[in-house]
Formats: sequence, C-alpha cells, structure tokens
Amino acid sequence: MTTIQKCVSPKDSEVEIIELMKPIHSNFSGKIHGGYILNLMDQVAFACASKYSGKYCVTASVNKVDFKNAVNVGEFLTLKARVNYVGNTSMTVGIRVTSENIQSGEQVHCNSSFFVMVAKQENGQNAKVPTLCLRTAEDVRRFLRSKNRIESNKTNTHTFSEKTFVIDSYIDELTTQNNVSIDPSLLEK
Ligand SMILES: CC(C)(COP(=O)(O)OP(=O)(O)OC[C@H]1O[C@@H](n2cnc3c(N)ncnc32)[C@H](O)[C@@H]1OP(=O)(O)O)[C@@H](O)C(=O)NCCC(=O)NCCS
Repeated sequence: MTTIQKCVSPKDSEVEIIELMKPIHSNFSGKIHGGYILNLMDQVAFACASKYSGKYCVTASVNKVDFKNAVNVGEFLTLKARVNYVGNTSMTVGIRVTSENIQSGEQVHCNSSFFVMVAKQENGQNAKVPTLCLRTAEDVRRFLRSKNRIESNKTNTHTFSEKTFVIDSYIDELTTQNNVSIDPSLLEK
C-alpha cells in the first residue's frame, strides 16, 4: 500500500489577523510602538506555521523588518501571513502588514518580513513539516527568493564568524568608512 504524503499549498497556509490600534499601544508621538507590531507579527507567523504543520511551532529567526510607514492610533492593522518555503522542520513565513484609516479607507503598506518557524513534537524535538505544493508562478518566485536568502545568510554568517573572520581583508575598507575611528594598533600589520 502506498502512503499518501500530505502536501499543502502556500494558499492553504494563509492566515490573516485584523487588530484595531488602541491608545494603550502608542508612543509619546501618538504612533503605535514598533515592538507591539512585532508582537502581532510573531503571533500571525505562529498561527500560519502551526496551521500549515499541524504542530506547535517556535520562532527560530526574523529576517529584516523595515518600518516603512508609521501606524496611527484608531487605524485597523491587517497582518497577512503565508508559508513561502519549507525545509525539513522549518518554514519561512512571509508577512505583509498594512494599516487602514477607518474613515477614509486609505490603506498603507507598513512593512513586510520573513519569520523562520520550526515545528515541534510533543517531546520537544523538531518535527518534520508537510511538503509544500507550489501551484502558481508566484509560489515558485517566493519559494526561490526565500531559498536564496537562506543561502546568502549562511555565507554571511560564515564570513563574519569569530573563527573564520580575517581582519586584514577589511582594514582598507574601514579606513575609508565614514564616521568611524579605528584603533591604530589594528592597522599595524
Ligand atoms: C530554533 C531551534 C528550534 C533550532 O533547533 P535546533 O535543533 O537547535 O537546530 P537545527 O540545526 O536542527 O535546526 C532545525 C531547523 O531550524 C532551522 N534553523 C535553526 N536556526 C535557525 C536560524 N537562526 N535561522 C533560520 N533557520 C534556522 C534549521 O535550518 C533547520 O531547518 P530544517 O530542519 O528545515 O533544515 C532551537 O534552537 C530553539 O528551540 N530555539 C528557541 C526558539 C524559541 O524559543 N523561540 C522563541 C523566542 S523566546
């Protein structure tokens, strides 16, 4: 008898959260704290990864969050998440955050980010996640973009790890760097 492997599409993994931005989450300028938005992003990433894998998940890493536009008190914040990429036990969840002015209906893109989530078994070990079914050209583009980002991160981590970092390769670059001062002893080769 052949085993039918579970296969889930990015579309099937989609999760959306809509929250009203309340004064309790504002900073001294009346805008919403970035940390509160990060908290909501982590929640939607968890919901998406857990829905996809059928397991409780943990956040392994967050890949770059640029706050493009501030969020105001009294707006709706929409967070949309979907699984873009999977490894064996990890999933890269793409998140898009938009704010909406309730009265005018104007929508503004606040940020996009990528959270790597890892599925867990009940005993705490990492769990295998289902196969990702790429059904559209957009699914393929997002999958390859995540794969590429993971590979670049690995190269970058290796270059600047304490064990492999070679300071001599960077001294010339640093001497022309704006607004930085280097201890002269570092320049003595
Ligand atoms: C993240 C964590 C699950 C990694 O598990 P691990 O058993 O130590 O490490 P592994 O090397 O086996 O990695 C497991 C998977 O996570 C991925 N991973 C681990 N660390 C990662 C990182 N920093 N960035 C991206 N992916 C990462 C690995 O690539 C691997 O993916 P794959 O199975 O799809 O190939 C583990 O370190 C952990 O539980 N960390 C704490 C998470 C947590 O508590 N988060 C909430 C913050 S308070």
